[in-house]
Amino acid sequence: MTKSMALQRRFLADAAHELRSPLTALSLQAERLASSDLSNQARQRLDALQSGLHRSRQLLDQLLALARAQESDKGKASEISVRHIAYQVIEDLMPLAQAKNIDLGMVGEQDIHLTVAEIDLKTLVKNLLDNAIRYTPCGGKIDLHVKNFIGKSILQIEDSGPGIPEDERERIFDPFYRILGNDEVGSGLGLSIVRAIADRLDAVITLGYVREQEKLGLRVSVEFPTQCLATLTP
Ligand SMILES: Nc1ncnc2c1ncn2[C@@H]1O[C@H](COP(=O)(O)OP(=O)(O)O)[C@@H](O)[C@H]1O
Ligand SMILES: [Mg+2]
Repeated sequence: MTKSMALQRRFLADAAHELRSPLTALSLQAERLASSDLSNQARQRLDALQSGLHRSRQLLDQLLALARAQESDKGKASEISVRHIAYQVIEDLMPLAQAKNIDLGMVGEQDIHLTVAEIDLKTLVKNLLDNAIRYTPCGGKIDLHVKNFIGKSILQIEDSGPGIPEDERERIFDPFYRILGNDEVGSGLGLSIVRAIADRLDAVITLGYVREQEKLGLRVSVEFPTQCLATLTP
């Protein structure tokens, strides 16, 4: 890693950590204000303030996750089942999927066991699944698939959304880059976090359409390297 990249990473980590306390203090003050007697107009303004604070908090959490993903220290690795993590993340995000009436589930029976830090794998899956839910229209479908066959260990997430055009597939991994033209709010950091974790694990991410001819649906494949594998389940 070059020296300027290391400096940039250090700066990101320090800035994100420095922002934590003042933002928490602001949220607490807003909460205290919310429990006092307010006119309707003041309450409306406070609601707007609180949703702004909530968005800032989410952005900060993503900045901290990116800083963590870029750390060279790999954290405590243990043997982790990809299927188990996928189920945990599905459970966490199920309310979001249900609110959009999206049919979300796992297909297949296979599993992969990796020796990695649990938080890395969980953060990676969470950011990918969050995107799938966010960018898939109401009533859509999302499938997670853990595939384990000779020489290949792959986690695949397929959605029935608009997919990502080929000429955007490299840039969307850049920090803060978002494709214009959707109504979702976001930081543009999710896929940068995913990429940083994948790089650390030596995993390879491939994007494609689920329905190649119609150019619809995003398929994200994460292929884990054999050195991450703990044991092979048949
Ligand atoms: N499953 C998906 N389907 C369609 N577009 C996607 C999907 N996942 C990501 N994208 C596009 O990639 C951009 C970057 O994603 P990400 O880095 O997670 O940032 P964010 O979700 O905060 O915008 C998104 O703004 C969106 O345009
Ligand atoms: Mg995202």
